[in-house]
Amino acid sequence: MSFEQSQARRGGFVLWFTGLSGAGKSTLSRAVAPHLAAERHVEILDGDEVRTHLSRGLGFSREDRDVNVHRIGFVARLLARAGAAAVTAAISPYRETRDEVRRHCEAEGIPFVEVHVQARLETLVSRDVKGLYARALAGEIPHFTGVSDPYEPPAAPEVTVSSDGEEVARSAEKVLAHLRARGLLEPEVRA
Ligand code: ADX
Repeated sequence: MSFEQSQARRGGFVLWFTGLSGAGKSTLSRAVAPHLAAERHVEILDGDEVRTHLSRGLGFSREDRDVNVHRIGFVARLLARAGAAAVTAAISPYRETRDEVRRHCEAEGIPFVEVHVQARLETLVSRDVKGLYARALAGEIPHFTGVSDPYEPPAAPEVTVSSDGEEVARSAEKVLAHLRARGLLEPEVRA
């Protein structure tokens, strides 16, 4: 057994949220994380936070987004190798790039769980928490994902949740149910 494989045996995994800006990736990752923490160390790699530290200076061209996503994937893999649950919340718009990160994980025996956080564009535009959609629609932000830049939804995500169709708690439960079914989380103990 290789060093990487023996490390992966400690039970870490990568929980990868993908979806448009404002779809609820960060909210959902924060809702799920405490439920994982009882059993292992948990770290959240949030897109906005990563871009102020690890990926400071990167923009939103395809090349820069790919560098960003590969960096997140690299750190997530190290964390998972050390036994942690690595939760990521970046748009990660390109299917091929996400699949590459998945392949790197799975090659080391690290489970990669992809969660598509869906939301209708009209919902995001009307919510517009950061005010970015209004500016993007006005043509002030070029290459804005979902407006003037592509978002490629996963072809076969492990879990799909809809942030305009269901409560956060319901979406979190779907993710946790998948992790339990995969044996990545202890079954729920009911009184
Ligand atoms: S990713 O494409 O590289 O995965 P990431 O999740 O790190 O993106 O960053 C997305 C965040 O950056 C958005 O939530 C938004 O706040 C901000 N942002 C600024 N410009 C853009 C843009 N052109 N497209 C998408 N998000 C942008």
